[in-house]
Amino acid sequence: MERTAIHVSSEEMARQRAAMAEIRDLPQRPESYHVVTYGCQMNAHDSEKLAGMLEEMGMRPAPTREEADFVIFNTCCVRDNAERRALGNVTWLKEVRKTRPNLMIAVCGCMIQEPGMAEKILKQYRFIDLAFGTANLHRFPELMLEALNSRAGLVRVTGEDVIAEDLPVRRVRQDAAYLTIMYGCDNFCSFCIVPYVRGRERSREPSDILREAEALQKSGVQEIMLLGQNVNSYGKGLAQPVSFAGLLRELDGMGIPRIRFMTSHPKDLSDDLIEAMAGSRHILPQFHLPVQSGNDEILRRMNRHYTRDQYLDRVAALRRAVPGIGLSTDIIVSFPGETEAQFEDTLSLVEQVRYDSAFTFIYSPRTGTRAAAMEGQIPEEVSKERIQRLIALQEGLQQETLRRFVGQEEEVLVEGLSRRSDRAVSGKGRHGVSVTLPGTASDTGTIVRCRITKVKNNTLMGERLEQS
Ligand code: SAH
Ligand code: SF4
Ligand code: F3S
Repeated sequence: MERTAIHVSSEEMARQRAAMAEIRDLPQRPESYHVVTYGCQMNAHDSEKLAGMLEEMGMRPAPTREEADFVIFNTCCVRDNAERRALGNVTWLKEVRKTRPNLMIAVCGCMIQEPGMAEKILKQYRFIDLAFGTANLHRFPELMLEALNSRAGLVRVTGEDVIAEDLPVRRVRQDAAYLTIMYGCDNFCSFCIVPYVRGRERSREPSDILREAEALQKSGVQEIMLLGQNVNSYGKGLAQPVSFAGLLRELDGMGIPRIRFMTSHPKDLSDDLIEAMAGSRHILPQFHLPVQSGNDEILRRMNRHYTRDQYLDRVAALRRAVPGIGLSTDIIVSFPGETEAQFEDTLSLVEQVRYDSAFTFIYSPRTGTRAAAMEGQIPEEVSKERIQRLIALQEGLQQETLRRFVGQEEEVLVEGLSRRSDRAVSGKGRHGVSVTLPGTASDTGTIVRCRITKVKNNTLMGERLEQS
């Protein structure tokens, strides 16, 4: 298979494997590891790769960070609170090291890619043994070896925007798996730091994706979640361009029971993709479609490239093609300059669409992004009041929206025992909504048929049906 230049060379990957083997044989290396993850599914999956590499280095997982010889923080910087939480926890671990001098601490992920962060780490967090950004994830073995040999605080941030295939992975779940189809983002929404810390958009070769999907299918996976910051624009720059809809059709044909994906950008949501979903057998009837705001002027200043009406048109098209589809979204309140009337447009959009769930955020200025330099940053009291009104509205509507499932059959991929009872299990239905139903731990990882009986606390309750 012809590979484009953006792929990490096989020589470089061989060097990483050699570094892992060398670490495994070191007499004085950490015996156990713990990965602490912040942020989105991308980071969760990167942590699975980190764990895979650490196992190849001969380390075993420690149940808590206090018990581990090596702790690595995989950080997020999408909002200020994500960043503060990570740094707080790293600093706390410094105290633990006073009693355990051999404890090794590493920090990686999006936060490390922020401009100026490397210098800050070197100055203020000298106790960190190793820091590297998302661009160097595949070089972790080499960097780890260097850190073990030097123990002098190693920071490596810069790197090319590459694609690394065949990294070892240790998956958290055996029944459901993340599968990255693309990396980076080119959209530069004016509030967002992701394009700066994850680099330019690049798509994996379809053959590599299908190969990974086949291996997952063989291992008995019930569900795959395709990952990318904007999966709808998948395929750009490939030697033989393939659309996301085309890729979905191929994956659907393999017969893996459930396929989901995130995230979709409304501006790139094509009719072809909607058709592919409607005509599929295994693509779940659910869609995460971040709207961010219901006001055209705010959307323009966010650089989102769609209007409220265009967004609503996409929602209508999805609902026509996939009746009953589960819809969720992301919303930001208090974007710079947002007036009360503009905020109310967001409320009215939420009322109009009726989402099954919404992730709501207060705008957080991120250094280096365009919005951070805009006038009209909104005071905290106003933002808090706005987000509370939005959450209250959504919660009320959600109770009603979810009622459409009552009396319906649903298939649930059981994630485990319910938190409230040891005679109930919970998991996600095909529409993406959490369902609790009678069951035991042995149901974990299986798909169970049920009938929805009621809505409770914004989730669904079900009773089991005979398995067909
Ligand atoms: N690529 C995805 C989402 C990435 S970040 C997309 O385009 O939808 C996830 C969510 O975090 C975003 O949808 C947005 O709602 C929120 N977010 C991103 N930057 C933010 C910021 N500076 N302040 C508040 N919320 C932000
Ligand atoms: Fe951020 Fe926009 Fe890219 Fe999503 S599409 S990651 S919000 S820049
Ligand atoms: Fe955070 Fe990086 Fe994801 S900034 S939201 S972990 S891409």
